[in-house]
Amino acid sequence: MPTNRQNTSDFGCQPGFPGDISTETFLHDYWQKKPLLVKNAFPHIQSPLTPNELAGLACEDDVNSRLVIEQHKQGPWHVVHGPLNEDDFNELPATHWTLLVTDVDKHVPAARALIDRFRFIPDWRIDDLMISYAPEGGSVGPHSDAYDVFLIQALGQRRWMINSDFDDTCLDDTELRILQHFDAAEDWVLDPGDMLYLPPNIAHYGIALNDCMTCSVGFRAPSVSNMISEYAEFIAAATDREQRYQDPDLAYQQNPAEIQRTVLTRIKTLLAMQLAIDDDKLLRWFGEFTSEPRSGLHTEPPETQYASFHELCTAFTLETRIAQAPVSKYLYARRQDQAWLFVDGKTYVTSPAFAAVLSGNRSLATRDVLASITDPADERVLLDLYNNGQLLIQ
Ligand code: SIN
Ligand code: CO
Repeated sequence: MPTNRQNTSDFGCQPGFPGDISTETFLHDYWQKKPLLVKNAFPHIQSPLTPNELAGLACEDDVNSRLVIEQHKQGPWHVVHGPLNEDDFNELPATHWTLLVTDVDKHVPAARALIDRFRFIPDWRIDDLMISYAPEGGSVGPHSDAYDVFLIQALGQRRWMINSDFDDTCLDDTELRILQHFDAAEDWVLDPGDMLYLPPNIAHYGIALNDCMTCSVGFRAPSVSNMISEYAEFIAAATDREQRYQDPDLAYQQNPAEIQRTVLTRIKTLLAMQLAIDDDKLLRWFGEFTSEPRSGLHTEPPETQYASFHELCTAFTLETRIAQAPVSKYLYARRQDQAWLFVDGKTYVTSPAFAAVLSGNRSLATRDVLASITDPADERVLLDLYNNGQLLIQ
């Protein structure tokens, strides 16, 4: 039966696709396949931030922000990288610029709530919520992205033009990848609450018609080359540094400049032994790799540290809730009768119920977390995560 909502006692109630079609239809017909415009996907949308609050966030040190100015004395499509300051804003023209802030979900609880509406896609695939503000004419130019994106209109109106068939030649002399030529195949005006889903590699061009805020939920699709280098690095770190090439049976060769096949065979055996893709190694690497926090984002240990789980329990009351730190990424995988819980690039061995509950819920009544503990290891993990600032007591 198609569902827009799934209920499980393990990880609460996850949202369905925001619109008239079911999650199953969206995944089957559109996800990674074709664009979809959903009018009134979020009927009561309120931008998680006002334009001024977004500008304030863009001035903070640990926040990733930029301004894109269409016409600038230093050339077209000029980019000013954050952290921004008051002068950057004072120098802006009246129209035709955009302020973009990425990872807003890691800093603003209301933004986290919006990105969580997309948990019908697995957490590891969800990257961040970017919010843009633009006055009339503001745009980042026609371009295509390598990942799926949901573009949610949060304030004002934006005209979106798209085309799946396009020439990918980009403009020279700008650090942005902006298409030299763009013809719209489809063209819509998005009002607040409307949403446009774009799979990767669709040319799109969004122009603010008036004061406009757009929330973009972006997805992670690691490149194969990045995964190869990261996996190789993980294997290298776990390999004995003293293990070296050996050739006790070296035979005399006529031409010392030649690399002989026997050498290759030996190296192939050595590398194949280490790089053999064993499921456990791969899972551990992938969980750590994909839960790694974005550079610049980290948790702060709390002022009060607890020495034992029993001491930590003194901080709990009937009303307290246990919440994931907003910058932390929680994932887990089952492994025989245990689970690997991955938090911010680190693996913890726990019971499956505890890992599912802790990673599946952004925040939960303390008693529900405690009820999921079935092993003393879970108690230690809860204590460590709290002392690291990755779990908050609220
Ligand atoms: C924007 O919000 O202005 C740009 C979003 C995008 O094109 O991906
Ligand atoms: Co884009």
